[in-house]
Amino acid sequence: MVKLEAVRASNSSLVQRQPLVAVFFGGTGGIGSYTIRELASAEAKNGGKGLRAYVIGRNAKSAEEIIADCRRICPKGEFRFIKAGDLSLIKEVDRLCEEVKKAEEEYGSDGRIDYLMVSQGGIPYLPRKGSVTDSSEGIDVTMSLMYYSRMRIITKLLPLLLKSQLPATVVSVYAAGAEDKLYQDDLSLRNLKIYTYNYARSHMCYMHTLFFEALSQQYPGKLSLIHIFPGLVPGPGFHNPELPLWFRILFHYIMLPLFGRWITMKPEESGQRMLNLATGQHPPGQASVSPAKTSTSTSDALVTGTDGKPGSGVYSLTWSGESNYPVKKYETLDKEELRKKVWEHTTKAFSVIEKGGVFTE
Ligand SMILES: NC(=O)c1ccc[n+]([C@@H]2O[C@H](COP(=O)([O-])OP(=O)(O)OC[C@H]3O[C@@H](n4cnc5c(N)ncnc54)[C@H](OP(=O)(O)O)[C@@H]3O)[C@@H](O)[C@H]2O)c1
Repeated sequence: MVKLEAVRASNSSLVQRQPLVAVFFGGTGGIGSYTIRELASAEAKNGGKGLRAYVIGRNAKSAEEIIADCRRICPKGEFRFIKAGDLSLIKEVDRLCEEVKKAEEEYGSDGRIDYLMVSQGGIPYLPRKGSVTDSSEGIDVTMSLMYYSRMRIITKLLPLLLKSQLPATVVSVYAAGAEDKLYQDDLSLRNLKIYTYNYARSHMCYMHTLFFEALSQQYPGKLSLIHIFPGLVPGPGFHNPELPLWFRILFHYIMLPLFGRWITMKPEESGQRMLNLATGQHPPGQASVSPAKTSTSTSDALVTGTDGKPGSGVYSLTWSGESNYPVKKYETLDKEELRKKVWEHTTKAFSVIEKGGVFTE
């Protein structure tokens, strides 16, 4: 595991090397907000070369507080809030991505994204109950927040991501490594007899890996695509009234007081480790520039990608940035075939919805 001092040192070098443009969907709370603060702090403490950051979420009050904090920490940085509606809707995602693109157009040829984090959705989940918990676009709300809307954001923002000279790092914060069952003929788990949250999470993990691999193959050397399990980081999500009462009581009154210091990660550490993912140990596959040249990491060891090769561009990670790719779960699958299937399924959902339809597959 990379020690925290080493993480901070490579974060310092990262901000000293070039200006950064960072976008946070789900940045109004939890891990997104911790990462923005750490970025602002690293920039200010180490004489960074410049920072523009976008905070995207629904809660304007929380966004104002985060941005005020960031401006206080780092007065030279530019921080902008883009107010979101429901991010489980692909059309809302499209609107927000257009806003980001328009904002970056103001910077002419300098417009780009170097670091994109998608962490919307929080801890609660609405277990699928027929169409009741489907969005008006036909997707299970939980699966949309954690998977479909995130992939849509990445594909919509590709023109800006591809302009990064770093190259760009994309971080989806969710449940990497939690692959379990996969119903290949029901990727969106419409069959209520088999739907459980654990299986939905499993599907979303497989789909993250396979969609990322398809994307990485299309843009070699351009994108570092990361799905990470963040560890236990208590934040506002754990107070959500949608969580069962028994869980909230157990979590806040028993687990945290008794075991909190051993099983949880502090917000600052979480933010520092998330930022560290851009420092070079997780480079894009077939990098156009040598990873060694761009790395600000104190450790030169490249992390193993989801194809089993070091530094190959798509990563499934533990909270500390090491691979947790569950090799055995994929051994019996025809990965190439499945990658194609996941890509077609996901892009079909997008095109049906884009045309005003409801996705039913
Ligand atoms: N924290 C942990 O311990 C932990 C552990 C394992 C996995 N994870 C996963 O990591 C990710 C981030 O967790 P977190 O703790 O940072 O979550 P969080 O504190 O609850 O923050 C989630 C963000 O998502 C936004 N959001 C939620 N539902 C939304 C919706 N329908 N439309 C628009 N925005 C929405 C919230 O924005 P507003 O408040 O503005 O609505 C907030 O900014 C989640 O996917 C979570 O499942 C977290």
